[in-house]
Amino acid sequence: MNHVPVMTVPAARSEPPAAAARPAPELSVIVPTYGEHDNVPLLVERLRRTLEGRDWEVIFVDDNSPDGTAAAARALGASDARVRCIRRIGRRGLAGACLEGMLASQARYVAVMDADLQHDESLLTGMLDRLRQEDVDLVVASRYVAGGSAESFSRLRARASRLATDLARRVLRVALSDPMSGFFMIRRERFEELAPALSSQGFKILLDIVATGRGRLRIAELPYVFRERVHGESKLDSRVALDFVALVVAKLTNDAVSFRFLLFCLVGLTGIGIHMAVLDLAHERGALGFGLAQTIATVSAITWNFVLNNMFTYRDQRLTGLGFFTGLIRFQVICAVGAIANVGIAQWIYGYDHGWWLAGLAGALMGAVWNYVVSAAFVWRQR
Ligand code: GDD
Ligand code: MN
Repeated sequence: MNHVPVMTVPAARSEPPAAAARPAPELSVIVPTYGEHDNVPLLVERLRRTLEGRDWEVIFVDDNSPDGTAAAARALGASDARVRCIRRIGRRGLAGACLEGMLASQARYVAVMDADLQHDESLLTGMLDRLRQEDVDLVVASRYVAGGSAESFSRLRARASRLATDLARRVLRVALSDPMSGFFMIRRERFEELAPALSSQGFKILLDIVATGRGRLRIAELPYVFRERVHGESKLDSRVALDFVALVVAKLTNDAVSFRFLLFCLVGLTGIGIHMAVLDLAHERGALGFGLAQTIATVSAITWNFVLNNMFTYRDQRLTGLGFFTGLIRFQVICAVGAIANVGIAQWIYGYDHGWWLAGLAGALMGAVWNYVVSAAFVWRQR
């Protein structure tokens, strides 16, 4: 008998066995993070418990936090494929992170919640069951329906939150008790339809979704109690108020006035104040001649505008180090050309005898648009 030796080469050792195709999970929980290293394992543990027996995954979207939040998420993901992480480099912002996470999902339903354990994860199953009933597109966890609350809020923050809620309801006709909530679940299909019109700037992703949906979304609200943050600290500050105003204006004008352009103009208005103050100091109080004083005032105002725009308008693409200085020089040059365009247009209109104020306004607007468009392309390189 011819003995054929059986090959016992461990061929499959180095390659994992080909796994069967695995469908996307039913639910993706999107968790934006910045500096949440200590909270990530705790949240994952709670999700495992709450969502036991369900078909889910969690996608952390981390903006390259210095505390190693992304690494903490990856460490968990190594042994549990339900834990995923998107690490964004060179970008910052809550709304943008949420959008990106939701767009990375393949699930039928997507939820958004904070990493800091302030959102009650046990609500997720109720939200999911509500969406499965087919009669709603979006379920919002609300602090302001019976049974919900936000007791951990300071009085000032509670008042600000109420005021913004009121404004959103009246001005944007958003019929939600808690449009500022950062905790909700939506059919991914519906979200995908709206996604191209959503702003990646700011904090108010839910408000943006609902305002952009213009009454076409079927919404349900579930009460929850906003808990106290245990580890780390809140990243939301007074800039949130500015973001809110810009979002309201953008939605009111059907996105004609973009979020960034509005911030850019607001910054420009403060620049006028700086210009006048410096002119007063250098010419009126100081001994400089008008021409020189006006030049110094102009350069000061442009520098001021640059710093503020870099801080607020383009905080998601903030220039630092050497880039800050080359950006400043470019911005000075662009604004100088803008000033020439401004005066040219104003004089041309004035020539047609339309009155000084109309001519002045048109010139200023022309200058602002020029400065905005050109600096977006050559200073901050908008994506
Ligand atoms: N990726 C990313 N990038 N995540 C961020 C950023 C950012 O720039 N800023 C904040 N986050 C993450 C935090 O790590 C946290 O998981 C979540 O977004 C909420 O941030 P907090 O700093 O904890 O915000 P908050 O508790 O003050 O505000 C929350 O409650 C508000 C209700 O008043 C948020 O849920 C708001 O969306 C909500 O409106
Ligand atoms: Mn928080």
